[in-house]
Amino acid sequence: DMGGHDTYMHKEISEQADAVDRVLRGRIDDRFSTVHLGGLNLDPREARGIRRVKILGCGTSYHAGMIGAGLIESLARIPADAEPASEFRYRNPVVDPDTLYIAVSQSGETYDVLAAVQELKRKGARVLGVVNVVGSAIARAADGGVYVHAGPEVCVVSTKCFTNTVVAFALLAVHLGRIRDLSVTDGKRIIDGLRKLPSQIQEILDGEEDIKKLAAEYAEAKSMMFIGRVRGYPVALEASLKLKEISYIHAEAYPASELKHGPLALIEPSLPTVAIVPDDDLLEKNRAALEEIKARSGRILAVAHTKQEKADHTILVPKNEDELDPILMGIPLQLLAYHTALAMGRDIDKPRNLAKSVTVE
Ligand code: F6R
Repeated sequence: DMGGHDTYMHKEISEQADAVDRVLRGRIDDRFSTVHLGGLNLDPREARGIRRVKILGCGTSYHAGMIGAGLIESLARIPADAEPASEFRYRNPVVDPDTLYIAVSQSGETYDVLAAVQELKRKGARVLGVVNVVGSAIARAADGGVYVHAGPEVCVVSTKCFTNTVVAFALLAVHLGRIRDLSVTDGKRIIDGLRKLPSQIQEILDGEEDIKKLAAEYAEAKSMMFIGRVRGYPVALEASLKLKEISYIHAEAYPASELKHGPLALIEPSLPTVAIVPDDDLLEKNRAALEEIKARSGRILAVAHTKQEKADHTILVPKNEDELDPILMGIPLQLLAYHTALAMGRDIDKPRNLAKSVTVE
């Protein structure tokens, strides 16, 4: 049932304020400015002993894991990174007893992720799942974890589950952080930010008509560049993936700082750039990248909290805490991909060559 929407993708994008509300519900502890996660199966002493976090997933779940790694590193101060599960399992990784491994999956059935979990368990590692489908293979194989509670996702491409997965990581990061060195003040700051997300998401969704107009303009591009820096880079990667999956427009994502090491050669009026420009300590650096693009006559669509002078268009997104801004910045770009694909007449819920869950190698 599409509940009055023309596609499942549109329905699922539109549901995100409620979905985020669900992942937060019952987990926040205001008394200690922390987060309780019932299924984690990790006691405080074990949580203190973690020296490193390695996050594994595929596709959109891998991108959510990249943002998750950033949240764990900045809030819990544990070195963390994400890697595609398929790469990890084929490179005979060194499995370290002090590393917490986290498998991320919407379906909980992606074969490469499941195989990575099984290999890790076989080697004695502790593996948590950040999974949407309750009771799925990856959820069962993991030692514990966090359910994402996005609800059923029918469209082949992932939208609401991406957002909820990142919020689940923010909860996990506060939980781990408050056992370690995250102060009460910072715990409360992030919790207050998390609580603001549903209404801010709704505000972005209410701006859909403007994004639709922009999409009509950008649907003529043969190729698009997406850039972001640190927190913004995984947002760029995910937006680029979404666009190519459903519109079949070629797109690539680069860290903004890498432009000058090669891809700047591509910039010309026919290659538009979508730039993620949060108002954080990297704002000036990001603005400098916009200037480099403008100097080569590149068209720029910025996603930012204030109008960007160098950009041809700015999609405005409400400001949250710096750590949580990436969650909001991904949402207008889901709508941009959606309306671009719609303008091109694509089969949005069932893009060519793709399946909802990849249960083969
Ligand atoms: C992107 C997409 C895929 C999946 C990937 C992992 O829109 O749908 O990239 O994210 O196949 O799937 P899950 O999360 O089910 O493991």
